[in-house]
Amino acid sequence: MPQKYPPISPKIPRMLHGADYNPDQWQQYPEVLAEDIRLMKLAKCNVMSVGIFAWTAIEPEEGTFTFEWLDHMLDTFAENGIYALLATPTGARPAWMSAKYPEVLRVAANGVRNLHGQRHNHCYTSPIYREKTAIMNQALAERYGKHPAVIGWHISNEYGGECFCDYCQQAFRGWLQAKYGTLEALNHDWWAVFWSHTYTAWAQIEAPAPHGEHLVHGQNLDWKRFVTDQTVDFCRHEIAPLKAANPELPVITNLMGTYLGLNYWKFADVLDVISWDSYPTWHDLAGDVEQGIWVSFIHDIIRSLKGGKPFMLMESTPSVTNWHPVSKLKKDGMHLLASLQAVAHGSDTVQYFQWRKSRGSSEKLHGAVVDHVGHEHTRVFHEVTQVGDALEKLTTVVGTSVQPEVAIIYDWENRWAMEDAQGPRNAGLHFDAAVKAFYRPLWERGVSVDVIDMEQELSGYKLLIAPMLYMVRPGVGERIEAFVANGGTLVATYWSGIVDEHDLCFLGGFPGPLRKTLGIWSEEIDALHDGQTNRIAMVEGNALGIGASYECYELCDLIHEEGAETLAVYQDDFYAGRPALTLNRFGQGKAYYVASRNREPFFGDFVGKILAEAGITRVLPTELPQGVTAQVRTDGQHDYVFLLNFTPEEQAVALDGDVYTDLLQGTSVQGEATIAGYGVRVMMRSTR
Ligand code: GLA
Ligand code: ZN
Repeated sequence: MPQKYPPISPKIPRMLHGADYNPDQWQQYPEVLAEDIRLMKLAKCNVMSVGIFAWTAIEPEEGTFTFEWLDHMLDTFAENGIYALLATPTGARPAWMSAKYPEVLRVAANGVRNLHGQRHNHCYTSPIYREKTAIMNQALAERYGKHPAVIGWHISNEYGGECFCDYCQQAFRGWLQAKYGTLEALNHDWWAVFWSHTYTAWAQIEAPAPHGEHLVHGQNLDWKRFVTDQTVDFCRHEIAPLKAANPELPVITNLMGTYLGLNYWKFADVLDVISWDSYPTWHDLAGDVEQGIWVSFIHDIIRSLKGGKPFMLMESTPSVTNWHPVSKLKKDGMHLLASLQAVAHGSDTVQYFQWRKSRGSSEKLHGAVVDHVGHEHTRVFHEVTQVGDALEKLTTVVGTSVQPEVAIIYDWENRWAMEDAQGPRNAGLHFDAAVKAFYRPLWERGVSVDVIDMEQELSGYKLLIAPMLYMVRPGVGERIEAFVANGGTLVATYWSGIVDEHDLCFLGGFPGPLRKTLGIWSEEIDALHDGQTNRIAMVEGNALGIGASYECYELCDLIHEEGAETLAVYQDDFYAGRPALTLNRFGQGKAYYVASRNREPFFGDFVGKILAEAGITRVLPTELPQGVTAQVRTDGQHDYVFLLNFTPEEQAVALDGDVYTDLLQGTSVQGEATIAGYGVRVMMRSTR
């Protein structure tokens, strides 16, 4: 049964609306700070992330703390009904620290130590950096851990990057020793005998480097795992003093969507709430529907990280960024649409970078709620206030979640391994595009989706889509086999089951541990140049009842049936007539193998049929207009249906027979719902 999660903070059981706020930049402008409070209330903002890069403002000299400005800020918040996510300031570092303790500075892959500057450039292993962080976080926790305005901790900011200093190299060796025990085991799993790379002492091992070793795939993979573990370990180190002072306050750090550098699944248990920073390029040449689909996909990953628990949209821009190649303004309505898109997928907050535009330095032209003009009479301020208005009407949605019957596997280690492999298509494997091609028909049909890594429990799903599951870690093949045997439907594709967790190829035939479930053997894979195509034709009387042919490109797997039946065959080239799409009836379930990268309308036709066959529930049983999606959150008694229109034109959606209550407009709706161009509607119905 669906459950209702508690709000992020019991102090404020409503949707949160707010921004990164940097009063430390404005201490010489007291009139600005006073005006900010008035404007925050006007914009219906109730939460601010404070102090994210404020280390120097809090500790201007080593051991000298100046908390007075922060005391004043938080007290003022408390008096005005505004809450704070208090940051640990470790995203940036004072110059005095770099000067006195150069070991806190990161060393690049080429072995050269960075100079002081920028942000996010410290060594997570450095004992001094850890010590300084512990002192800072403990001081903050003791002073503010029970402050009435503080509702949670914003840990650092967008952890990322890697350090190659001696401390980190040493820690990497220790990590390897703990993992492998012996050099024999390591040499085997790294296939180190190749090119005489066998190690005979732990001290010989270094992190991958452009001017050194970087072709041992197992080593590259382990380094990436180590970087994640070391970052997670630093995050834990930050959290310890915070939880010691007040275990009730949730700890949160802002993730960067699909950022490849860190395996976000490893953060899930360390954090109380997952949050992320979303900066889509709305109105770009690919179009808003394309953007909308991909942003929805990322929201689904973020929600899935904690099994459906509501997440936070920690950052988004109220207008433009200053780092996209072209900083396009959001058209009227786009801001509300993008904000409620996050809520539709499970966010209980809409937050911005940032509250007030900086006066100087590199982000002075980045969008913010309050512009340099300094007053509220701007288009952006108005659009932000509209979001505040809308969120106030969605209090009953807080804590509700989604219970998808479909999961897509999008696994970080799989991405690392695929990216590293020198293989069939160095010109581009286009993994994200391959995943999006399967996600699109689900989005277009209003089907809820979890996006998971390969370690997650599968038994709750009816349909599992695993595009390009190149790496299959131990136990995964068995769990997928059991999932299908027990009645689940699996969709797998070309370039799957090639390597194990060490990036060693499976012996005895691809797709390795998936071979039995899929009932096929993949003997070879053909890569096509950009512009080259082949076609697949559905065979007569195929089980899906589709009678079409589709263009394919980039990758064509040459497979043999081993129990599976052929649904489509290649039309051209020397493999014309060989199977290109198969179905294996396995136990009580079905396993489909898509051997080629196909173009639309393949995905619409194929996924559409499979959804119907597998009995997957859609948010609405009716057809949605092109560019419109329907998403749902539920508490088991009421469903909250979000209709999101990513086209500039008004669209009409046919409803089922139910009577809906439009929560934003306060009206009752039946039969049909119209949605303005770039519009959104949130409609409540009784759960069936
Ligand atoms: C990131 C950072 C913010 C800010 C924004 C700008 O998300 O966390 O501090 O730099 O980008 O878009
Ligand atoms: Zn280091």
